[in-house]
Amino acid sequence: SKPSADNLRSPICCIMGHVDTGKTKLLDCIRRTNVQEGEAGGITQQIGATYFPAENIRERTKELKEDATLRVPGLLVIDTPGHESFANLRSRGSGLCDIAILVVDIMHGLEPQTIESLNLLKMRNTNFIIALNKVDRLYGWKTCPDGPIVKTMKQQSNDVQNEFKMRVKDIINQFQMEGLNTELYYKNKKMGETLSIVPTSAISGEGVPDLLLLLVLWTQQKTMVERFMFSNRVQCTVLEIKVIEGLGTTIDVVLVNGVLHEKDQIVVCGMQGPIVTTIRALLTPHPMKELRIKGSYVHHKEIKAAQGIKITGQGLEHAIPGTALYVVGPDGDLDDAKEAAMED
Ligand code: GTP
Ligand code: MG
Ligand code: NA
Repeated sequence: SKPSADNLRSPICCIMGHVDTGKTKLLDCIRRTNVQEGEAGGITQQIGATYFPAENIRERTKELKEDATLRVPGLLVIDTPGHESFANLRSRGSGLCDIAILVVDIMHGLEPQTIESLNLLKMRNTNFIIALNKVDRLYGWKTCPDGPIVKTMKQQSNDVQNEFKMRVKDIINQFQMEGLNTELYYKNKKMGETLSIVPTSAISGEGVPDLLLLLVLWTQQKTMVERFMFSNRVQCTVLEIKVIEGLGTTIDVVLVNGVLHEKDQIVVCGMQGPIVTTIRALLTPHPMKELRIKGSYVHHKEIKAAQGIKITGQGLEHAIPGTALYVVGPDGDLDDAKEAAMED
């Protein structure tokens, strides 16, 4: 059957880059939230997850392209920390994703964790788009809130346009030295061979419609779409163990493929051996809200991938972040699941 929202899972997109390039702020701009300002020291210290339904993406991109066909149900975006001490979380985040956004600060160019992120993406053969963020910091920038980038650029003075060109040229050279061909996305005629750069501002939103549209259209290319065909085989990773008032011990997970149900028997890797339990509650934040931020939750009987989910159940306090969650099916073998869980 034709790929559609019924038989496709949502692609998972990981956002990576050097500390303070604006990864969380870009997500705040899309969500219209304020997660970044609530972070201790303005530094992300956990993996985040936010679900963006296709209808919200359409709303945000319609000025750029009114009639874009969106076939995927939505996008699950994984936020990662850029601080050098969280290399393990960057590696975990990049291991979960289908595609990625590499964020580069236009005023700084490539920095140590940009290169580290690049190497993770190269190693896993993950396709990515470059967001060249903080364009509003070019001297004399004229703000065009949420404006498509080409339209916005035309409204800038010659000085701003010249500084922009010079910085872009320099950054393209820096990528070349890492062995990568890159080009502004609206000039890129060889997508696939040449990586696309989307200039953005996370503060005033310029280029954000372009970034979203490019991401979604790209996941719908013939060569990519196979990857997002929905499968019933559960693929799920534990991100965090958290005690939440009123809920007790919960685990935050990313469901990459398959379906989870309330009362499913699950097995996760624990510090003292496999933990066998049943899903008591299956919760998600509201769409466009960050999983790692405490808020109100939506209760589900079942959830299809891809999603960031909070699970409650007995005995989960000793679960180990970064390991896989297994479901014991009606005919499944519990011992096999236990063995698989402890192999992580
Ligand atoms: P880590 O997660 O800690 O690696 O940082 P990050 O990449 O998520 O960056 P964050 O969103 O925390 O932003 C860092 C700082 O840059 C904050 O003070 C933001 O307000 C600022 N910032 C982010 N994006 C932009 C932008 O587009 N323009 C301007 N002027 N400032 C920005
Ligand atoms: Mg951040
Ligand atoms: Na930060």
